[in-house]
Amino acid sequence: THVVSEACIRCKYTDCVDVCPVDCFREGPNMLVIDPDECIDCAVCIPECPVNAIYAEEDLPANQIAFIKINAELALADGWKSITKRKPALPDAEEWKDKTDKVGELVR
Ligand code: F3S
Repeated sequence: THVVSEACIRCKYTDCVDVCPVDCFREGPNMLVIDPDECIDCAVCIPECPVNAIYAEEDLPANQIAFIKINAELALADGWKSITKRKPALPDAEEWKDKTDKVGELVR
């Protein structure tokens, strides 16, 4: 599967969802995740993300491994809905796009 990592938090640019052929993105308050049961590993979303948040599971940086579980859990969580059309990024996206260690900012 492919995985949305920390860089998405508080940015949510949503360019990724427009290209997904299987509509596997799910939207939470300040991040998207990929439903691992639906992702077909086509990888077309990877270059679309302006903050390079998306990785093939096997290519995830070591400090992003926790996001495998986070994607799997939140894809099924209450209130996390399918998103298939691009929409404006979060208002503070530019401010947050270069920040690291944002996992504490994730709103479930
Ligand atoms: Fe997030 Fe990048 Fe998509 S910031 S919403 S993974 S385009």
